[in-house]
Amino acid sequence: MMKVLVTGAGGYIGTVLTPMLLDAGYEVRAVDRFFFGRGLLAPHPRLEVVVEDSRRLEPTHFDGVNAVVDLVAISNDPSGEFFQQATMAINHKSRVRCARLAKSAGVARYVLPSSCSIYGFQEPGVVADETAPPRPLTTYARANELAERGVLGLADETFCVVVLRQATVFGLSPRMRFDLAINGMTYGAWRTGKLPLMRDGTQWRPMIHVRDTARAQIRVLETDPREVNGEIFNVGSIADTWQIGPLGDLVASCVPKEVMIDWYGDPDERSYRVSFDKIEALGYRTEWTAADGVAEVCEALQGGTVARTPETITLDWYKELVRWHRVIRDVEMYGGIVEI
Ligand SMILES: NC(=O)c1ccc[n+]([C@@H]2O[C@H](COP(=O)([O-])OP(=O)(O)OC[C@H]3O[C@@H](n4cnc5c(N)ncnc54)[C@H](O)[C@@H]3O)[C@@H](O)[C@H]2O)c1
Repeated sequence: MMKVLVTGAGGYIGTVLTPMLLDAGYEVRAVDRFFFGRGLLAPHPRLEVVVEDSRRLEPTHFDGVNAVVDLVAISNDPSGEFFQQATMAINHKSRVRCARLAKSAGVARYVLPSSCSIYGFQEPGVVADETAPPRPLTTYARANELAERGVLGLADETFCVVVLRQATVFGLSPRMRFDLAINGMTYGAWRTGKLPLMRDGTQWRPMIHVRDTARAQIRVLETDPREVNGEIFNVGSIADTWQIGPLGDLVASCVPKEVMIDWYGDPDERSYRVSFDKIEALGYRTEWTAADGVAEVCEALQGGTVARTPETITLDWYKELVRWHRVIRDVEMYGGIVEI
């Protein structure tokens, strides 16, 4: 039986990937600080939960492990700018160190879920493939590019390394994120009829459903290493590659009420269209469309099974945790606050 160590297993993608791996028969060692809550992974006889910081992984964490999916990260551009040092330390350094530890421990395969955002800006009309020079525009994207280079350098015949550049993700997850484009637009349109749209709406962005990106991760765990070792794959689909303006129209059309556009921000410099031919040549295809994602998020909001809690906006939540850490440190005595 294959044991997969998943870092960032308590995150938006990790809490979807982990049950999918368990359903597929894998054993999972889920490593996370669980910044977004400890109850997001249902107990399972083949699931081992390890509460640890990715910067403090030890060789023993890799005992009995066959493969690693290294999801851990400070996971978006605004958080990356706010916590620049930590973003480099976690997203770049800790992931390269994790790959090194895995290789030394005899782990056979390592998957780095990176991001299409490393394409940054591509001229209109260009559809970039994996050989296009990265143009990272943010700390988050730069950290991903450095992590990619660091881990790919470790690939050899004993250690299969695969980089997946994921499109922007959407859809439901136990660790829900409403700071992702489609999910945020859907929430705004559903709740207030005001759909938040980042200026100026002409920027291109590929999108992918969270279960589809998790499927891609499982696919490259199971593909013959000769087809994937040392390779980078864009993960998404041309069908769900959108300009943000028309994507807003799609979201609005899926919501059963009058919707107005609520423009925000400075014009977004990030704009990229990418090719998915390489991953499709492995036989991989996405299964859920943007419209499917909007429908499922709307239904969950309507049914009250998901809500826009503070944890669902990544940067706001990290700022809250840092603020409460200071407050609690100041007032805690003898291990308690009022009761000691
Ligand atoms: N969601 C997207 O649209 C998207 C798109 C492209 C790439 N990605 C990448 O996919 C990965 C997962 O993204 P996500 O959306 O699930 O993010 P997320 O923020 O929901 O999950 C990240 C997880 O890492 C954990 N974590 C953070 N720092 C840690 C540390 N030092 N030690 C241990 N745990 C720590 C957090 O607790 C969280 O559970 C990230 O690498 C992200 O950059 C995501």
